[in-house]
Amino acid sequence: MSSTDATPLSEDMLIIHGGTPLEGEVTVRGAKNLVSKAMVAALLGTSPSVLRSVPAIRDVEVVTGLLRVHGVDVELDGDTLYMDPTSVESAGVEEINVHAGTSRIPILLCGPLLHRLGRAFIPDLGGCNIGGRPIDFHLDALRQFGAVVEKDASGTHLSAPNGLHGIRYELEFPSVGATEQVLLTAVMAKGTTELRNAAIEPEIIDLICVLQKMGAIIKVHTNRVIEIVGVDELKGYRHRALPDRIEAASWASAALATEGSVFVRGAQQADMMTFLNVFRSIGGAYEVDDDPVEGGIRFWHPGTPLKPVALETDVHPGLMTDWQQPIVVALTQADGLSIMHETVYENRFGYTSELRRMGANIELYSDCLGGTPCRWGRRNFLHSAVIAGPSKLHAADLQIPDLRAGFSHLIAAMAAEGTSRVYGVDRYITRGYENFEEKLLGLGAKIERPVTK
Ligand code: UD1
Repeated sequence: MSSTDATPLSEDMLIIHGGTPLEGEVTVRGAKNLVSKAMVAALLGTSPSVLRSVPAIRDVEVVTGLLRVHGVDVELDGDTLYMDPTSVESAGVEEINVHAGTSRIPILLCGPLLHRLGRAFIPDLGGCNIGGRPIDFHLDALRQFGAVVEKDASGTHLSAPNGLHGIRYELEFPSVGATEQVLLTAVMAKGTTELRNAAIEPEIIDLICVLQKMGAIIKVHTNRVIEIVGVDELKGYRHRALPDRIEAASWASAALATEGSVFVRGAQQADMMTFLNVFRSIGGAYEVDDDPVEGGIRFWHPGTPLKPVALETDVHPGLMTDWQQPIVVALTQADGLSIMHETVYENRFGYTSELRRMGANIELYSDCLGGTPCRWGRRNFLHSAVIAGPSKLHAADLQIPDLRAGFSHLIAAMAAEGTSRVYGVDRYITRGYENFEEKLLGLGAKIERPVTK
């Protein structure tokens, strides 16, 4: 959704009295970017699956709805999700279309549904408005596997009249979703699949762990090569989702920007190494407690001026693109010129216009600044930002444009002097952040909902 089609609703608004350091503790649960995919994987099993550490976020509700219309029995008990796919059935276009535009996950149902039912239907996709977000890699790979893809006004219809067979395939770019598409399709395709230039994000490795528990044979080689040997049958799994490293980094950046101190229970050092290096380079302090149950990472502002840095986002193990926005907010408080070169999405700086209105000094450029030339250079995409700090941020009325940018607006409003109104919190933030209001209140943030008549 773009900010333009998001009508500001006064009840979908949070009032933030800024200027208070965030102090205390939050817990992060399973990663949104794994949980939704592991739910899709459950479709492939001949027996029920159990997924633990499932966050209460809207993307989980959307995938629950999609699984249910296909006959999967889904029950949530606390943060444990039970999924029974033994009665999977075809769903009607209308039932599926109820979920159109709410998330990009439906595209990942293609392979599992083609295996289980011989056909699949994909509605118009949603997700955050941060670039073109095409699905050409997905559809191309599915065609190579043997799927017949037909588009009409209602969406995309797929069938596999001759079944699906293994492929040798090289991705143009290590796309997370396309890698997951190939994995979820190849595990039960006839023969072996070799995927080159694959994405290897921790959430993908965790999905591979899920599929391996189900009976899949998947080898992750060096140099982004993944080999999958198709099997005839997969069973259900029991799995605890890896923690959400995007949410963890969001709280870390909030601690830095508000000059506070936050212990993020559940944050895991191994998945956040690149972020931790950046956090330290900026001048932030952290301490890792690696107790397997109670552990996490405490992040705090040490009281000394923050330092400017030149950064660029990249696929894993590079700096994650979803960490970009919270880091930029923190960099508005650094002492000097910082550069952020966004190489994954062409249009992920839209949120900076709101930060500028709050007093941040940020200029956007279409050149590839401060790093290696990327796909977006010389094409008029404003994908590099120069941030001059430190800026005193002041309160403003803000309209959230997408999920990750939205959390950055919250951070900026909490760091700013005065009272801000942030619109679109229910529409966007709840897609990916569990109980964010309670967590903010627990950290001492001065927030309130407008009084409704
Ligand atoms: C996932 C994450 C998102 C994260 C992103 C990159 C989920 C639910 N979302 O999104 O939080 O920001 O990875 O780490 O897991 N592309 C194509 N054609 C395609 C597919 C992708 O050109 O068919 C391009 C995209 O436009 C983008 C780049 O590849 O420029 C990366 O996208 P991709 O890794 O696929 O992102 P998602 O899987 O959608």
